[in-house]
Amino acid sequence: VIPVESAQELVKNHVHPNAAEAVPRRYIRPQEERPTVSLLASSEFSIPVIDMKKLIILQGQEDQRKQEMERLSDACQEWGFFQIVNHGIPHSLIDEIKAVAKNFFNLPLEEKQKSAPQGGDPQGYGQLFVTSEDQTLDWGDLLALSLKPNQIKNLALWPTVPTNFRDTVERYALEVERVAQEVLSLFAENLHLEDADSFKNVFGSEPMNLMRMNFYPACPRPDLVLGLSPHADGGGVTLLLQDDETVGLHVRKNNQWIPVEPIPYAFVINIGDLMEVMTNGKYRSIEHRAVTNKERARLSIANFYNASVDAEVAPSAKLVDEHHPCLYRQFIHKDYILYHLSKPLKGKRHLAEFA
Ligand code: SIN
Ligand code: FE2
Repeated sequence: VIPVESAQELVKNHVHPNAAEAVPRRYIRPQEERPTVSLLASSEFSIPVIDMKKLIILQGQEDQRKQEMERLSDACQEWGFFQIVNHGIPHSLIDEIKAVAKNFFNLPLEEKQKSAPQGGDPQGYGQLFVTSEDQTLDWGDLLALSLKPNQIKNLALWPTVPTNFRDTVERYALEVERVAQEVLSLFAENLHLEDADSFKNVFGSEPMNLMRMNFYPACPRPDLVLGLSPHADGGGVTLLLQDDETVGLHVRKNNQWIPVEPIPYAFVINIGDLMEVMTNGKYRSIEHRAVTNKERARLSIANFYNASVDAEVAPSAKLVDEHHPCLYRQFIHKDYILYHLSKPLKGKRHLAEFA
């Protein structure tokens, strides 16, 4: 991890609104990566919204459930991304987690730097994916914390201000894990695996819950920069809370970037590389990116629900047959993590090494 200046500090100290040179050279994207206005405005499609309430098993509601399961199946196969509503996570807790995240990023730099990464551990405050001096930088700061399992939880990096940070994150983590496990069961059911616990079993006894809070300051030239470089997530499933007011997440579909419209209290869920492997490519991890805007900052909170470090990941035997050849070799999750972390965030390329 190469330390770089906080984007928030940059805005505070150096950037002059509307000046052409407002954005330092290291943040300026090559032409083909810039978020063009026409794409920003086109939102004729949007990612599917799944109502979790309709997926509860209730007598007399079988048809409704079946239809929603089919919508979920399409979402996984056609998009790799969907939003969920009626997930059961209390709205008050969602308000609280957003409030502590906002409070943290609003602290003075010296306070935030108490959470700076230590000794190669890819956790803490800053930009964690900078691996070379000539890499284009993202217009955003982040706070990454490993919540589970306990061995990788480094409380020394957890903010102590605001004082309710720790408690709020702990309570939120439990809720996110519950929903993530529910989603894994629904996937297993939709794919007709032996039992609903198939994926949970592969994830093992110590699944990881990694949290990343992203803060993207307003940018005087949003047309030249990206808040977060295009990438596909490396883990199992990602649960993302978006800013309610500010669009920023784009999902790649048929070579177009589709904005994900925020729905208050909904989660955006996406398939990570491990799920792509386990489903033998039936569900795919999809590239996405975050853009900035001129008027306001944007906050998002991502939780990556991943297999245990020592899990053996491979395509599910049920999804391999003569018409569906095995697309990936078996590997130990840890080897994938090390590979993924050694590369800059750049598009979807990492899985090819594990084919
Ligand atoms: C992410 O991909 O982790 C976050 C994207 C976003 O800020 O919406
Ligand atoms: Fe992501």
